[in-house]
Amino acid sequence: MIRSTLYCLAVQSGKLSLAKYAGGALIPTLSIDRDDRATITVQLVSALRDLILSGQLRAGERLPASRTLAQDQGVSRTTAINAYEQLTAEGLLRSQVGSGTFVSDSIPTHQEPAEIENSGAMPRLAHLSAEASDQYFPRLSHPETPRAFVTGMPAFDVFPMPLWSRLASRYWRSPRSLVMSYPDACGLLELRQAVCQHLRANRGVNCTPEEVFIFSGAQNAFNRIGSMLLDPGDPVWFENPGAIGARNSLISCGAQLIPVPVDEQGMDVKAGLVAAPNFRLAFVTPAHQHPLGTTMTTERRFELLRAAENAGAWVVEDDFVGEFHYGTHTPPPLKSIDASGRVIYVGTFSKALFPALRLGYVIAPPKLVPIFQRIAQATMQGTPASLQSIVADFINEGHFAAHIRRMRDIYAERRDTLMLEASRSLNGLLKVQPTDTGFHTVGDLTHPNLTDVAISQAAHSAGIVTAPVSRFTIQPVPRQAITLGFSAVTPAQIQKGVQALASVIRDAMASA
Ligand SMILES: Cc1ncc(COP(=O)(O)O)c(C=O)c1O
Repeated sequence: MIRSTLYCLAVQSGKLSLAKYAGGALIPTLSIDRDDRATITVQLVSALRDLILSGQLRAGERLPASRTLAQDQGVSRTTAINAYEQLTAEGLLRSQVGSGTFVSDSIPTHQEPAEIENSGAMPRLAHLSAEASDQYFPRLSHPETPRAFVTGMPAFDVFPMPLWSRLASRYWRSPRSLVMSYPDACGLLELRQAVCQHLRANRGVNCTPEEVFIFSGAQNAFNRIGSMLLDPGDPVWFENPGAIGARNSLISCGAQLIPVPVDEQGMDVKAGLVAAPNFRLAFVTPAHQHPLGTTMTTERRFELLRAAENAGAWVVEDDFVGEFHYGTHTPPPLKSIDASGRVIYVGTFSKALFPALRLGYVIAPPKLVPIFQRIAQATMQGTPASLQSIVADFINEGHFAAHIRRMRDIYAERRDTLMLEASRSLNGLLKVQPTDTGFHTVGDLTHPNLTDVAISQAAHSAGIVTAPVSRFTIQPVPRQAITLGFSAVTPAQIQKGVQALASVIRDAMASA
């Protein structure tokens, strides 16, 4: 390695600068390590580059002749010439026949770090970053260890890890050309086929592998969809309250979000039509409204599809927990009743398997398949082939269907525990809403002076995870409610959590 030690410095107006003489700038002694694996030329180039980029050699400054440099640094003349040639090729030096070698004029004048820090100048930011307040652009956060009542997390405690490890180690024994090369940017064919099979069997959605695109989770898909379909200012219907991740993705694509109220039937389409009849896209969570946990009725689904068809708009259907329903009847996904090819269906393996996979998928309507293909092939390099392949095997060998059946029973039991414990301990404190789907529900505070923010904060201090519904709103809603996840923790933890929450609310009521 080279360490540059200046041996001839002049102190001018408080700053260090290199003394000059007629033969060109005086280059500091560069200690060259002859035992280093890097060649002497590489070390010399690197040290000179550092001097230029740090401003110790300034734009327009003349360097010593290659013979002088070689002598001063104790290297061969060829090494010095080669170093100058390389830096000239990089654009850092220019040589002028008959006059010598100079630091390129295009190198910016160096400012001392202190000067920059004190100048008060902010780097220019995109509008979005400049306005990235927590209210406008809330952070996504997940606790590392599941705790009552975290939302959106599957049950890690019962995941079939030995089976998963067997499939993973079998995959890594496959031929190297298969496991080590770039995967198809649109997704591995075997996984796209397996997704079709899963959706046909579990969600009544018919699609072809060409319509399936694999992404790094649903969140990544929302970003891509937004940037593919929206221009800045395009009106987008968004459930109010609604999913924060999707909201942030659409905002970051320049969408003008139109908050559309949600009632017990799902998004209020009529209200959407009053607010923005010419919407460009609607984002909905029909199977399990996020965060309220309600299911959109079949009637509302048709109403939304009609509105989208009339407006020529797209509908993004986020079916993140579509596999998990505990009642007898579930309305069909929008995708399965979409006669006019308006629905972009988004699924994820974060809930049905586990979130660390970072695997999600989009079923594109036929008209959008070519553009999804183009964008994927032009801008993406695919998601990890290993995980895609293991998930495909997990589905194809029947483990996924068995896992979903088992998890439905487990989650139904956890949901029942929450409801039972709530009826015992939260009566008069929190009205926990029944739900037949998903991983969580919400509880409405009954005391008129309590706010969901205050109760969530107090719960947090008592070691309980819950979020205020107001965190999910773009426009305030007339209700004070908190989220209650039941999927990630055991019935015993749920029981304890309910009791702890009851005492948090009781304390708050006593001082309200
Ligand atoms: C509303 C909603 N949709 C989708 C997802 C899944 O996102 P991802 O697949 O990126 O994990 C989440 C995750 O919490 C979610 O809350």
